[in-house]
Amino acid sequence: GIRSVARGIGSYLPANVVTNADLAARIDTSDEWIVQRTGIRQRHVAAPGEFTSHLGLKAAERALAAAGLAAADIDLIVLATSTPDQTFPATSATIQAELGITRGAAFDVQAVCSGFVFALATADAYLKTGAFQRALVIGAETFSRILDWEDRGTCVLFGDGAGAVVLEAVETDAAKGRGVLTTHLRTDGRHRTKLYVDGGPSSTGTVGHLRMEGREVFKHAVGMITDVIVDAFAATGESAESIDWFVPHQANRRIIDASAQKLGIAPEKVVTTVALHGNTSAASIPLALDLAVRDGRVKPGDLVLLEAMGGGFTWGSALVRW
Ligand code: ACO
Repeated sequence: GIRSVARGIGSYLPANVVTNADLAARIDTSDEWIVQRTGIRQRHVAAPGEFTSHLGLKAAERALAAAGLAAADIDLIVLATSTPDQTFPATSATIQAELGITRGAAFDVQAVCSGFVFALATADAYLKTGAFQRALVIGAETFSRILDWEDRGTCVLFGDGAGAVVLEAVETDAAKGRGVLTTHLRTDGRHRTKLYVDGGPSSTGTVGHLRMEGREVFKHAVGMITDVIVDAFAATGESAESIDWFVPHQANRRIIDASAQKLGIAPEKVVTTVALHGNTSAASIPLALDLAVRDGRVKPGDLVLLEAMGGGFTWGSALVRW
């Protein structure tokens, strides 16, 4: 058999930081309200002319450098994004060209905030078949472009950024227990009107803005997240005690804390970046994981639990021996 083993990780945040105080100067909100309800203190916002492909490219280059690999070593790019540069071609094709890669395949995956887990599961499945050898799995978003900056209920929540992981197909024996151990993906489209964008090429011919019933999302989030994590534990025999790190999608501090508590995951195992990054959708997990790898928390051989939930609703988990 084959395991998909992580060789390197990288991330990128646009330089421009927007604090809660900056938002309070523009709309009727306050640092206190945002911090109490979400834990968010600041977010990064892409500059005009800085696109999702630019953020994703920088994260990919950093992941390749960390892996000690060249772009030419990559034969698969799976990019998770809900904010593509254009309707088509896929933004992954732009990143592929910017990296100078001319072989293999590149495509985008669209599962909103769950996108990185869906992209990781997709790349893992392809690598295991032997179809590809080395994949770049990228989450990159510019949600600032689809926010209604007049809607205080949503615009304070999101930020821009990108993260990327290099996965390599390794014979199971040689992997020595490392790699993607299991992934679990779910979608329930009956919830599609609770978190959505009110535009698109086929319906309105416009890009549209993000709309959300925040309380409805909150109500479903913890149960959905914990369900797919229970699935991951059942499939592997691992548990809240045996994992080393919990790296959840970073939407909201209260959702993260409630999920960890319900699962019995110790607070010191939880990696949280929501205060600094806001909700960067598909980019949030690789951004948080990259931070924890670079600051020495996540070490080779550690058991890392990833989880996300988002528009659709989509939700999923991945258990990775780093
Ligand atoms: N500043 C000040 N007041 C605000 C703001 C704001 N930014 N936004 C809303 N309010 C007001 C509302 O207008 C309302 O006022 P009213 O009582 O006078 O009508 C009051 O605050 C309460 O509004 P609610 O929407 O009921 O507030 P709630 O406690 O539900 O918090 C929040 C809102 C933070 C969005 C919460 O519902 C939540 O976290 N939901 C989860 C949503 C989420 O994380 N989505 C991310 C995408 S999905 C994902 O990634 C998992």
